[in-house]
Amino acid sequence: MPLRFRIVSIVQETSQAKTYTLEQVGADQVSWEPGQFLTFIFGIDGKELRRSYSIVSLPGEPLQVTIKKVENGAASRYALIHLKEGQEIAALAPAGRFVLTPQKLVQRDIFFIVAGSGITPVLPQLRRLLVAEPQSAIHLFYSNHSEQDTLFMERLTALQRSHPQLQVYWFFSDPASRSFPQRRLNNGILEIMVREKMRFAPGQAVFMICGPFTFMRMARITLIFMHVEEDRIRRENFLPEIMRSSPGTAHHFEDHTVTLEFNGTSYRLPVRHDETILRAAMAHHIPLPYSCEGGVCSTCAARCTRGKVEMTVNEVLTNQDLAEGWILTCTGHPVSENVWITFDVR
Ligand code: FES
Repeated sequence: MPLRFRIVSIVQETSQAKTYTLEQVGADQVSWEPGQFLTFIFGIDGKELRRSYSIVSLPGEPLQVTIKKVENGAASRYALIHLKEGQEIAALAPAGRFVLTPQKLVQRDIFFIVAGSGITPVLPQLRRLLVAEPQSAIHLFYSNHSEQDTLFMERLTALQRSHPQLQVYWFFSDPASRSFPQRRLNNGILEIMVREKMRFAPGQAVFMICGPFTFMRMARITLIFMHVEEDRIRRENFLPEIMRSSPGTAHHFEDHTVTLEFNGTSYRLPVRHDETILRAAMAHHIPLPYSCEGGVCSTCAARCTRGKVEMTVNEVLTNQDLAEGWILTCTGHPVSENVWITFDVR
């Protein structure tokens, strides 16, 4: 069931972005992990639109999300213009798997490779890691068009000043941004800088990538070219609002009935060969959480505890997640009898 939040205050971060402080209506504050997001459910022109926005505050602080305008993006445009203080809004509970758990006694390099609003899930993670993993070296490569449209520039500068273990490297593609020597972050610069800045064993390094699709593809391919293991690379996919992914269907799926555990209730759900588990649940009015419906955000993730599920698209779950049984219901199809899927293990 969607939760309801009231907008307590709104702060203009840049000309294109605002931060919204929220309080949950009629309940205690929800809990979240740094790096997770809220999925807002908008009603725009009579249609339901779901969009995920990262939580930029730490657990224990007021809940805050930052929304940056996406060119031709209906939801962000609507939010930035129409959301007002005092207004209530529906959202799903915090979700997302772009979360790095701190390891207090470990010494490793953590590289955040970020562009634009990709900083939003990264800021709270930086703040937590700086306290909870004090012996590691944290490197932030942060790419933007110009200083004016860079989110959290002052806060990051202050964090770097107060925590020598954090190094921030700024990249601006606008030639007018003269105060910083680097330009656009590309594969050549990324490779050189990763090698140059690495302080501990390269095999222990972790890479967290977040930004537009082409930026993340560049970063991922560069790291793989450098022989970084896939499991050491984590990505947060920000689906451009104007792009719609189709869950896709292949021809080899068959009809199956799955057992679905959701919010303490167990359902026997028939899933046709031409529909995903999420679509089948929606057809039976089971309100599973989802956002992108394209295999990139993980809002719909659940655990398969018996049987086998195949996904037509998976841009977000890692090999480790898959080994633990995580699946995406928005692109998942049952491919065996006796499939059990549970949402009650988050
Ligand atoms: S709803 Fe986004 S991955 Fe399934």
